[in-house]
Amino acid sequence: MAAQLLDGKVMSDALRAEIAQKVAALKEKGVTPGLAVILVGEDPASQIYVRNKGIGCEQTGMHSVTIRMPEETTQQELEGQIRALNNDPAIHGILVQLPLPRHLDEAAALAVIVPEKDVDGFHVQNAGKLLNGLNGVVACTPKGALEMIRRTGVSLSGKEAVVVGRSNIVGKPMAVLLLQENCTVTVCHSRTADLAAHTRRADVLVAAVGKAKFITADMVKPGAIVIDVGINRVDGKVVGDVDFENVKEVAAWITPVPGGVGRMTITMLLQNTLEAAERTLA
Ligand code: GUN
Repeated sequence: MAAQLLDGKVMSDALRAEIAQKVAALKEKGVTPGLAVILVGEDPASQIYVRNKGIGCEQTGMHSVTIRMPEETTQQELEGQIRALNNDPAIHGILVQLPLPRHLDEAAALAVIVPEKDVDGFHVQNAGKLLNGLNGVVACTPKGALEMIRRTGVSLSGKEAVVVGRSNIVGKPMAVLLLQENCTVTVCHSRTADLAAHTRRADVLVAAVGKAKFITADMVKPGAIVIDVGINRVDGKVVGDVDFENVKEVAAWITPVPGGVGRMTITMLLQNTLEAAERTLA
């Protein structure tokens, strides 16, 4: 059986049309949602992500600015820029593109963003709210992945969910979101013994490992929902963490790479920015 495709582009187009309508309504009230992206250095992958974020803002009628800072930017300069954006009323969302050059302290920089403008959901206050089941900003990639899982229409309560990867950005918040959906959640990582024994139990399998085609067909339960968060470059081609061609013959639902979770991540960023702007009127 070939799996049904969870198409991030189709889902994003529909969601972005809804976001654009809400942006237009907010503009009528005198507020144009504004996103500022800070890009330090010349990382080629980051340049592409940042460009796509700008395109998303344009599509939905939001105001966006990209602040490009040189590779040799100091911590003080970066934090000064963030503080200026914290105080800029035209900006509702601030995103510091990661990874930062190695001499910069990522955690310290993210902590400077006021939590209300932290549209990435990376600030400890937002991460803590998620863990405690309180309303806060949810990180874009796991939020988008959950939206894709929901759109299968499969009831999640009581299902086995396995998340491969334990990053603060994806794995941990993904696990918490699936727990909130009443899944039984297992988080696997590089030290997990017998990874395949876990993944084969998964009704919902989320791969966020950063290794090309790492999840093979023999690791997947027939009929599973497989969500591929990976973006790996192999011989000039972008591939996910899942061996798509073979896994699609086993799974019931699968996300492609590209055109899957990545597209939804940016859509969730637009949604978080819209909501941040709406909160200023509340
Ligand atoms: N780098 C790769 N993904 C992301 C993301 O979602 N947010 C930020 N800020 N940087 C990233």
